[in-house]
Amino acid sequence: MKENTLTITDNRTNITYEFSIENNTINALDLRQIKVDKDDFGIMSYDPGYTNTAACSSKITFVDGDKGVLMYRGYPIEQLAEHSTFLEVAYLLIYGELPNKESLEHWEERVMHHTYIHENLAKLMQTFRYDAHPMGMLIGTIAAMSTLHPDAKDIHNPVSRQKQIWRLLGKLPTVAAFTYRRRIGRPYNYPDSSLSYTENLIYMMDYMNQGNYQVNPILAKALDTLFILHADHGQNCSTSVMRNIGSSYADPCSAMAGAAAALYGPLHGGANEAVLRMLTEIDKVDNIPGYIKQVKDGKLRLMGFGHRVYKNYDPRARIIKDIAEKVLEVTGRNPLLDIALELERIALEDDYFISRRLYPNVDFYSGIIYQAMGFPVDMFPVLFALGRAPGWLAQWLELIDDTDQRIARPRQVYTGQMKRNYVSLEQRN
Ligand code: ACO
Repeated sequence: MKENTLTITDNRTNITYEFSIENNTINALDLRQIKVDKDDFGIMSYDPGYTNTAACSSKITFVDGDKGVLMYRGYPIEQLAEHSTFLEVAYLLIYGELPNKESLEHWEERVMHHTYIHENLAKLMQTFRYDAHPMGMLIGTIAAMSTLHPDAKDIHNPVSRQKQIWRLLGKLPTVAAFTYRRRIGRPYNYPDSSLSYTENLIYMMDYMNQGNYQVNPILAKALDTLFILHADHGQNCSTSVMRNIGSSYADPCSAMAGAAAALYGPLHGGANEAVLRMLTEIDKVDNIPGYIKQVKDGKLRLMGFGHRVYKNYDPRARIIKDIAEKVLEVTGRNPLLDIALELERIALEDDYFISRRLYPNVDFYSGIIYQAMGFPVDMFPVLFALGRAPGWLAQWLELIDDTDQRIARPRQVYTGQMKRNYVSLEQRN
């Protein structure tokens, strides 16, 4: 008997099939050989939410959810968070290797060179209503970027692809800062490429003509590290959308607008916003047991807890918890941190969470940091999007170069009516 194979016997026909196993995976199309007769379509696998379906192979990010391990291109997230910078990590994700000094300087220069946005885009952003959610503005504005840079459609041209990557990474912080300034009615503050990526973001949001303005280096470093932690996470919901849209050969701005939309939801990147709202609602430590009871009764979800892949402590949450302590030393203690720490302590001792292997995820503490730094709650998913952007782009590039990839088009199990004749309006009940 061959070693790396799977033998399946169809009890309807008594026919036995043998499929090869590669990387612990069978090719789903092999299942189509299993038929009761030649007109039969063949077997499919049913997998809502793609819980056990690999839609691609990837060399970018390794996640072992059982052990709580996360690595970008083989480098442990803990080492990158401690020693690297966000732009260096972006380079690593996109090109596969850490840059040498010269390549890093060139990369940083190119990205920062593209921080200005088209004036039409800035004007377009002025047309959003005063109370528009910044994430809605971000999604709409990224989509509109494709209209101003039609060369982005040239996705089979590596030179053009390279340019779109600089462009998107360069312009995103500007768009993000403008959503914030638009929201609070302040004039836009244009980029300063002499600053680092995250310093420039804080500067564009924050600067108000102070004579001796300086971005606090501890806060800029904290934000930079948060972005590193968010930079990629394999085939999560938004990255899968980036790949799905990219598979139709849409331009990367359109694909990224879709990815950002997927990130917006409270079960994904919107969770950091939802955590803050939850902690505010809990209000004080004494209310935690009552809140946990409602979660266990199925009335609420504990936001920032649980993960499709991590069935152990999310390694990013551990690093973020440390950053929270550092940031709060600068900004002053946020009472929500005490609620979060106690909530985590109680939940991790409770059988409901233990038995379901629910641990804090990346979003549990990130919102507390963002709030302490002065970001409004509805900017949190925007910050997540900025952090995730290099991952989206790296995955998009990998998709375009992958000869196995075809347009994304899942199957369905049709359970509706079979053919029936049209009934005129008069004859319907
Ligand atoms: N609070 C309470 N119970 C939970 C939670 C939670 N946060 N998450 C999962 N559960 C329970 C479910 O009710 C279910 O219990 P049951 O078996 O008794 O029905 C069990 O744990 C398994 O949950 P699923 O929903 O099947 O897990 P799934 O993998 O589909 O969902 C998800 C993962 C969406 C992240 C979920 O844990 C959740 O909703 N968490 C809260 C939102 C959140 O923090 N999202 C951010 C994720 S990280 C990121 O996107 C960056």
